[in-house]
Amino acid sequence: MATRNALPTDADALATIMAVRGGTAHEHLVSARRLIARLEVLLIAEQDGAPVGWCGIQKVRIRPGAELEWLVAGLTVVPAARRRGIGARLLGELVRDTPRTTQDEPIFSVINAGNLASIDLHLELGFLEVERAATFAGIKFSGGVGVLLSHP
Ligand SMILES: CC(C)(COP(=O)(O)OP(=O)(O)OC[C@H]1O[C@@H](n2cnc3c(N)ncnc32)[C@H](O)[C@@H]1OP(=O)(O)O)[C@@H](O)C(=O)NCCC(=O)NCCS
Repeated sequence: MATRNALPTDADALATIMAVRGGTAHEHLVSARRLIARLEVLLIAEQDGAPVGWCGIQKVRIRPGAELEWLVAGLTVVPAARRRGIGARLLGELVRDTPRTTQDEPIFSVINAGNLASIDLHLELGFLEVERAATFAGIKFSGGVGVLLSHP
C-alpha cells in the first residue's frame, strides 16, 4: 500500500471512492475535480496500483463567527480494503502534511456521533473530542449529533 498526492487525472478514481458513501461516481465527478483543484492536501491510497482510499484537508469556518480552521475532508476507504490500516495511514499522513503555520495550530475533524469506527480511528491517532452538536461547518448529521475532534 502506498499514498500519494492526488493529480487532476485522479478525478474519476476519486469520484468512484466517494460513491461508496452514497450516490454514483458520475454524480461525484464535478466535486472530485473541484476537490483536487482546491484542497490544500488531498491524499490517495493505492493498493496494487489501484486507488482504494482518500482524505484531504481545507480551511473552513467550523463554528459561526470563528476564524477559518483546518478541517479533515473525506477520509474514505473502499469496503474491500478496510481494517488493514489504510484509514489510519491516510489520516496520520494528512496530519503530518498539513501546512500549519504554527506547531500548535489544531486540525479538526467532524464525525457523525454514530460512526464509532471513525471516532476510534481518530482517537488512536491522538485526536481528542472537543464538543458535540447538531451541526458543524454547515454539516447536519443524520441521527442529529456530530462530534468535533481536534489534533493536537
Ligand atoms: C472509517 C474508515 C475510513 C476506516 O478505514 P480503515 O482503513 O478500515 O481503518 P483502519 O484499518 O486504519 O483502522 C484503524 C482503527 O480504526 C478503528 N476502526 C476502523 N474500522 C473499524 C470498525 N469497522 N469498527 C470498529 N473500529 C474500527 C479501529 O480502532 C482501528 O484500529 P484496529 O484495526 O487496530 O482495531 C472506513 O471504515 C470508511 O471508509 N468508512 C466509511 C466512510 C467514513 O465513515 N469515513 C469517516 C468519516 S469522518
